[in-house]
Amino acid sequence: MAELHHETFPPPESVKNEAFINSMEQYKEMYQKSIDDPEGFWSEIAKGFYWESEPTGKFLDFNFDVRNGPIYIKWMQGAKTNLCYNAVDRHIDKDGDRLAFYWEGNDPDDDGQVTFSELKDRVCQFANVLKSLGVVKGDRVAIYMPMIVDITVAMLACARLGIIHSIVFGGFSAESLADRILDAKCSVVITSDGVWRGTKLLNLKDIVDKAVEKCEHVGHIVEHVIVSRHLLPEEIVVGEGDEERQPAVRPCRHLNIKWNAPRDKWWHELIEGASTDCPCVWLDAEDPLFMLYTSGSTGKPKGVVHTQAGYMLYSATTFKYDFDYHPDDIFWCTADVGWITGHTYVTYGPLLNKATSVIFEGVPTYPDPGRFWQIVDKYKVSKFYTAPTAIRSLMGFGDEHVTKYKRDSLKVIATVGEPINPEAWLWYYNVVGNKKCAVVDTFWQTETGGHVITPLPGATPTRPGSATFPFFGVVPEILSEDGKTVEGEGEGYIVFKQPWPGIMRTVYGNPQRFETTYFKKFPGYYTTGDGGKRDKDGYIWVTGRIDDMVNVSAHLLSTAEIESALVEHKLVTEAAVVSHPHKIKGECTYCFVTLKQGNKFTADLIHELRAQVRTKIGPFATPDFIQEAPGLPKTRSGKIMRRVLRKIAVGDKDIGDVSTMADETVVDELFKRRPEDA
Ligand code: WT7
Repeated sequence: MAELHHETFPPPESVKNEAFINSMEQYKEMYQKSIDDPEGFWSEIAKGFYWESEPTGKFLDFNFDVRNGPIYIKWMQGAKTNLCYNAVDRHIDKDGDRLAFYWEGNDPDDDGQVTFSELKDRVCQFANVLKSLGVVKGDRVAIYMPMIVDITVAMLACARLGIIHSIVFGGFSAESLADRILDAKCSVVITSDGVWRGTKLLNLKDIVDKAVEKCEHVGHIVEHVIVSRHLLPEEIVVGEGDEERQPAVRPCRHLNIKWNAPRDKWWHELIEGASTDCPCVWLDAEDPLFMLYTSGSTGKPKGVVHTQAGYMLYSATTFKYDFDYHPDDIFWCTADVGWITGHTYVTYGPLLNKATSVIFEGVPTYPDPGRFWQIVDKYKVSKFYTAPTAIRSLMGFGDEHVTKYKRDSLKVIATVGEPINPEAWLWYYNVVGNKKCAVVDTFWQTETGGHVITPLPGATPTRPGSATFPFFGVVPEILSEDGKTVEGEGEGYIVFKQPWPGIMRTVYGNPQRFETTYFKKFPGYYTTGDGGKRDKDGYIWVTGRIDDMVNVSAHLLSTAEIESALVEHKLVTEAAVVSHPHKIKGECTYCFVTLKQGNKFTADLIHELRAQVRTKIGPFATPDFIQEAPGLPKTRSGKIMRRVLRKIAVGDKDIGDVSTMADETVVDELFKRRPEDA
């Protein structure tokens, strides 16, 4: 087993003193109860929420073993509730004036805020709009929006009516958006005119137009495109005598929006006169809440489905304990709502806990790399949640951008998305947290709904790079390749033995794929696709994906998806993509491409190939390295040996066993053609 960073950091006294869970004994006791008696444990928690009616059958019913029939997971079946009611309406009587969100724009002078009462009014109005357009329970609505309050309003309005939202991250291309609209057969798309991210202006409406057109080509009609106005000049406030700010906070002059009536509708026109009352639709605990696409190793993304009650209990409970959220805390999760982190810890988890949190539209480095800490001071953020890739990138700009700000409000600083390297962890702890904050490294997936392996800030002694121990209800095991349980210290596949309330229920429209992806390799277990280690003290260290997935800046991509984008280029016959370590992004992609006979591998071609991936998938998927491969290392049965390609990508000549390789001479050729900067 490789050396792990074994220095242990006890929870800071100040955090421990006020924590809900302030010792490992207390954690262990609660944990034991949660796995011995899930019904007792979660039904106690359920009492804190509003239920229109009680479960009619078993509190928990499931099958995790394909040998016993189809996989299913059901929590609180028959109970009726509404997540939007629990997240918003429930708080209004007593705390309507409490702030739900601070909104911080891309430009530091652009901000706003919304109370729980205002949020409820906005959600009801928008829900009434959806109703008037004929959207009903069970329909799918795609959301392609920037980080503005309206994205949470759109989600909550859907949740209020039992409409299934499918959010597509604003960095995906028109093609990716179209694929997702088609797979879910969405009849409505909600978007915005555009958004500034740093110094870049993105025309979201134009991307939606292209996606909707693509859908039409294959016979799927999107009936309504609702556009939230974020950039138009009426909204621009130019201070008196403030000539310098003439280009204003949210200028839109370069944005050319096409309008396709009656399909396209302005959000602000639709809500004009709409009532701020809208009864909640009482939904079954197991009715779907949302679907969210995540990369699949075959290349086609999977629509991960989450349901009402289980997701509600789990998002709320992980939020409360893992960030130790108290009423006077200000919480900030920097993730985009387009990813699961944003669903669970920008929208649902915080609102269910009546939390006040920050929604940030911009990027960590605009106008300068001190932006995060400037915002922390501005709102006195006490619980902060970001990704290792952001931490590494900011680390590179130097401590002065951090130390310039006070940051004395911070208590818990957390990370998610990929394994955090000890160097970045220590910088986060020492510099950002001033050695006074608990660092909480949360391991989870789109599929798990919320944190599954995580420290508790007031209880768990942490180790840099380890996500430590399981959350309540989660039973991790480490399995060897042949499915044997690894006891004690060891390494293998990370799997889970029994369901927790937040686990996904199915892959939208494809239950078979749900079973094969997660339950087939090791019958009786949910397989994460990640590898990991357990040290002698029981700490879990997630080491990364062991399937054909690459984690680029905390965004999971499948190598197959990138390969299929590359081979669509007319000069390419074959492509193989592997993961390559990257200082800031964690991992990046390294692509081997074989060209059709007689074609030259030129700088222009590399440029075209990168553009191809950008258009097919999105800018965040753009490959870092592309090299020519006159031949690829293959087994005699024709399977590409990715293990060997990974070695070539990093320039490691020790490529291991090649006895199964059909033609070994290709390897030398590939080493010769590595790009200089790789
Ligand atoms: C994959 C899931 C869950 C929100 C963001 C990503 C990796 C996530 C950690 C962590 C090590 C991590 C895993 C996982 N991952 N958090 N704390 N330590 N690895 O969601 O896109 O579904 O990706 O991200 O590889 O399987 P996702």
